[in-house]
Amino acid sequence: VLTDECLFVSDLVSKLGFGCMGLSGVYNAPLSDEVGISIIKDAFNKGITFFDTADVYGARTNEVMVGKVYASAHVLIKFFLLDAWNMEGEQVASAHVILTKEIQILQALKQLPREKIQLATKFGIVGMEPTHMVVNGTPEYVRSCCEASLKRLDVEYIDLYYQHRVDTSVPIEETMGELKKLVKEGKIKYIGLSESSPNTIRRAHAVHPITAIQMEWSLWTRDIEEDIIPLCRELGIGVVPYSPLGRGFFGGKAVVESLPANSFLVSHPRFKGENFDKNKILYTRIENLAAKHKCTPAQLALAWVLHQGDQVVPIPGTTKIKNLDDNIGSLRVKLTEENLKEISDAIPFNEVAGDRTYANMYSSTWKFADTPTKD
Ligand code: ATR
Repeated sequence: VLTDECLFVSDLVSKLGFGCMGLSGVYNAPLSDEVGISIIKDAFNKGITFFDTADVYGARTNEVMVGKVYASAHVLIKFFLLDAWNMEGEQVASAHVILTKEIQILQALKQLPREKIQLATKFGIVGMEPTHMVVNGTPEYVRSCCEASLKRLDVEYIDLYYQHRVDTSVPIEETMGELKKLVKEGKIKYIGLSESSPNTIRRAHAVHPITAIQMEWSLWTRDIEEDIIPLCRELGIGVVPYSPLGRGFFGGKAVVESLPANSFLVSHPRFKGENFDKNKILYTRIENLAAKHKCTPAQLALAWVLHQGDQVVPIPGTTKIKNLDDNIGSLRVKLTEENLKEISDAIPFNEVAGDRTYANMYSSTWKFADTPTKD
């Protein structure tokens, strides 16, 4: 269990978040709602309060799963009461027992009080074409996505609402204008951006404060360090690194543990062919350093990200309690400046083989995410 001391924090979230995407099947087969919910609850019971999803994950099903963690008990009771209208005598008596049980479940779920959890979700990715992503940042689309996410999550408000990818045909001020209205209406509390260019971040922040930028950041993806990180420091914006374990690579995925055939990683540029053969050497270096620090390679990789600053909150995802515990353990790994340098030096960028993302997603990353100016 996380102690108060290592738990955290900036004012809003636990020091470590939880990325829910993988629960709906990306790197592994999808989990049932029941198992997915039990993992989220376990994470909460161990001190994680910041949960990350997006409308597009699991083809719109991931938000429903995440929402059920908070909503399932009262939905069950509603259905049950409807059924009770058609019952008589003994049936009603046994129904009463069942209803009492449902109330117990409701009590159990009070372990996850809405106000103690920070739910982050995202809008903006409409779909994926073979050559590119389809992205929409128009005000009408922003609003309709927000309404739909609130319904799927079955919550009154979203804590952190991100633009998932920037629509380069819409001035960012227009997208932000609508997000700002959603804040005023109480539907969202804070605004975030993902894969935004420095120019877009600055312009967006001028319309309404940006709370967090979600970007890929790990030992083998460090291109945001030059421009984006100093800008976030300057503007006081938090950084939420996604894929902090390099999509599981630093946890040994594909190296010590083979990938399931249905894993999206089979076709990822860094996980296939010659690139992967080269990258395996990088894993071995981290494995050796982890032994030195008496932790696992995943813990070392996460600890490295955690040491990048107080306002840096990585969101590793996992489908296994064992790995969740391992990740939480990374908060106890203390690294000095010298240790951090030694770890970074083990993964020189020019030795990382392959792009960080798939060819059809690359054109929607932050380097290509300026928007037109408003006339
Ligand atoms: P993303 O943000 O894209 O989800 P990530 O958090 O860097 O990426 O990595 C997620 C992957 O790391 C998952 O495939 C997860 O696999 P399991 O579901 O099998 O756990 C893997 N992973 C997470 N924590 C891990 C750990 N401690 N050891 C090994 N693999 C881990």
